[in-house]
Amino acid sequence: MTANLEALEVTTPAWKVIPDRFAGHTAVVTGAGSGIGLATTRRMLDEGATVIAVDMHEDRIAAVMQEYSDGSCVPVVGDLVESVTIDRIMQAAHGEVDLLANVAGIMDGFLPPGEVDDGTWDRVLAVNLTAPMRLVRAALPSMLAKRSGAIVNVSSESGFRASVAGAAYTASKHGLNGYTKSIATFYQGQGIRANVVAPGAVRTNIDAPFKSQFAAGVLGPWLKVGVFKQASADEAASAITYLLSAEASNINGAILPCDAGWSAC
Ligand SMILES: NC(=O)c1ccc[n+]([C@@H]2O[C@H](COP(=O)([O-])OP(=O)(O)OC[C@H]3O[C@@H](n4cnc5c(N)ncnc54)[C@H](O)[C@@H]3O)[C@@H](O)[C@H]2O)c1
Repeated sequence: MTANLEALEVTTPAWKVIPDRFAGHTAVVTGAGSGIGLATTRRMLDEGATVIAVDMHEDRIAAVMQEYSDGSCVPVVGDLVESVTIDRIMQAAHGEVDLLANVAGIMDGFLPPGEVDDGTWDRVLAVNLTAPMRLVRAALPSMLAKRSGAIVNVSSESGFRASVAGAAYTASKHGLNGYTKSIATFYQGQGIRANVVAPGAVRTNIDAPFKSQFAAGVLGPWLKVGVFKQASADEAASAITYLLSAEASNINGAILPCDAGWSAC
């Protein structure tokens, strides 16, 4: 069984490019080859940023590079769990990161606390929580030197409640929310903002099979009731780029649901 969201509506928003919104800025976007990360990367490139586009799938990054061959998109192919990838991202950015979108993330097969195996737990926490922490830690020195910087970490409905995923994913996204508040608290006096975007259901390539019959039985009804719209990746990218932009200059430590109201219900 998989989480069947196929029947739900996908709305493509009528957003327009805001010319030069990110001109002169170097941005790092992870998960840039697919889904929300790809939509964010396109939006930021279209709005003037230089984007370090990071993904572990070489073919996906190659496709982005074909779209943007003017040098504004700088590819980094690698697994974010490996610290060498963080080093390569910082080299590609020449040590100067103005904007950071930690978008890459993976699901956990909806495995409940009694069934989650060590491999799944370790990988999900490493990709969804530890990798963003390492990338923020690497980017902070240049942001602190400029007394300017914006970070968006992409969490989930699973950062609010436990009825949407398995134990590891839920723990990773709750952790990411708390970690983001920590950045906001420690650096609010130094021109650095950190916020969360928490998408609801979004049509992407994320792999979300139920690997537990027990979980399917417990969570299936919650998912049927809760998810009433499947959004486009562009809608999530709109929230991310807003929080990265100067328009959100007084927003720090916020967790912004981008879920058509799901978290309000
Ligand atoms: N799709 C949804 O319904 C949904 C809902 C809530 C939250 N999210 C979150 O949105 C984020 C983006 O997910 P998406 O739906 O766009 O998924 P996606 O699978 O379409 O894209 C994620 C990209 O991240 C890359 N990636 C994954 N692990 C990586 C690693 N270790 N190193 C480098 N690259 C890696 C993948 O190769 C992929 O291209 C994730 O953090 C996810 O948890 C998604």
